[in-house]
Amino acid sequence: MKQLSMFIIFTFIVSCTSKNAKNENGNWPDNMQKLAATLTDLLPFVYNQEKFEDPSNKEAVKGKMKKFFEASHKIPKERAVELLGKDPLVNMSIESLEREVASAISSFERGNYRYSRHLLQHTLNYCFACHTRNQIGPKYDYWDLKNIDTGDMNVIQKSQVMVATRQFDKAKEILQSNLLTGTQSSENPYFKEQAIKQYLSIVVRAEESPQNGYKFVKDLMGKVTLPIYLSRNLKSWEDSFLDWLGEKKANKNSLNHAKKLIESADIIHTGADSDSKYVDYLRASTLLHQELGKNITKKNRAEVLYYLGVVYGLLSDSGFWELPDVYFESCIRELPKSQLAKACYSRYEQDIIVGYSGSAGTFIPTDERKKLTMLKELAGY
Ligand code: HEC
Repeated sequence: MKQLSMFIIFTFIVSCTSKNAKNENGNWPDNMQKLAATLTDLLPFVYNQEKFEDPSNKEAVKGKMKKFFEASHKIPKERAVELLGKDPLVNMSIESLEREVASAISSFERGNYRYSRHLLQHTLNYCFACHTRNQIGPKYDYWDLKNIDTGDMNVIQKSQVMVATRQFDKAKEILQSNLLTGTQSSENPYFKEQAIKQYLSIVVRAEESPQNGYKFVKDLMGKVTLPIYLSRNLKSWEDSFLDWLGEKKANKNSLNHAKKLIESADIIHTGADSDSKYVDYLRASTLLHQELGKNITKKNRAEVLYYLGVVYGLLSDSGFWELPDVYFESCIRELPKSQLAKACYSRYEQDIIVGYSGSAGTFIPTDERKKLTMLKELAGY
């Protein structure tokens, strides 16, 4: 009898701990579903100034923002690292998402509605960056567009929402149909450029499909009127996709491959538009992210971090001006007092100085100055 009760207690403990372990790990899909549900619930307000600022909606909007905040707060960071590897982008996007939603709520409470809406729109970038980081996770094309009120959004915003909710095919459909037939902003080359680049990040990063990329570029050629620099870039992107299609499968060393893709763009000497290598840069970023997910030496990791900083500096349209610095800093911390750390510090310092300079001079805040001194020493200067 005693043995039996011991057995019962034992199984009880085991079942409890395994349940706990599961909870601690966090159920990723559930968390993400919750995040998407609270976000899509809020979106109709985020893209409609009138609805957002209407005093009679105040409590409802605040409630929805708080739910979105709670969902962002619950993203299990450790599970994220398990899924995606030790990549600074993972923590950065989770923390920034949470911080920006919190800041949107306090701006809203202070009556700064414009800024609050701006922050909420910006949070979609974090979903975008993480989901298109590389090809991991399911596609969700069963979600009905009708469930998401996209009436007040432009094409880029709509496709961003689709990527945020992992509906890649729908995102592409929206962008492509607008580019090929769209009347909205069809005269606006900048808008077209953004739409094309967004499409490219989906096919290159989230789908890793040179076939789809090649087809897209071919579809555009000749059918869409573009400024000359963009048509030229289109030709160059076609070449990148052709090279990619011609590659042998077993290309084991992603770091070397990424370096080649980044360095083959001899912009300095040819004076070509750096965007002509946009596809290569996107591809390099994916290869580097994959490398971070592997078990590699500290030296290799620092080098991968360095190149991620470089490539995100080149992909300046990615919506994250802070990403290069995040990577350069991680590189210094990964391998302090080394040649690599020095190279990373030099890039970091340059970014900060440029970032805080304007026609009136350079004004670096005290905190940032302190950080520079600390990182400089850590790098071994
Ligand atoms: C830290 C990176 C990261 C961030 C930030 C992120 N996601 Fe995800 N999300 C993922 C990954 C990885 C998956 C796929 C996981 C898997 O199933 O393997 C995923 C899956 C999803 C899914 C599918 C869930 C399922 O049922 O399997 C939805 C929906 C989703 N995310 C919505 C969002 C929304 C909305 C945001 C922004 C508000 C967001 N995510 C931000 C990494 C992220």
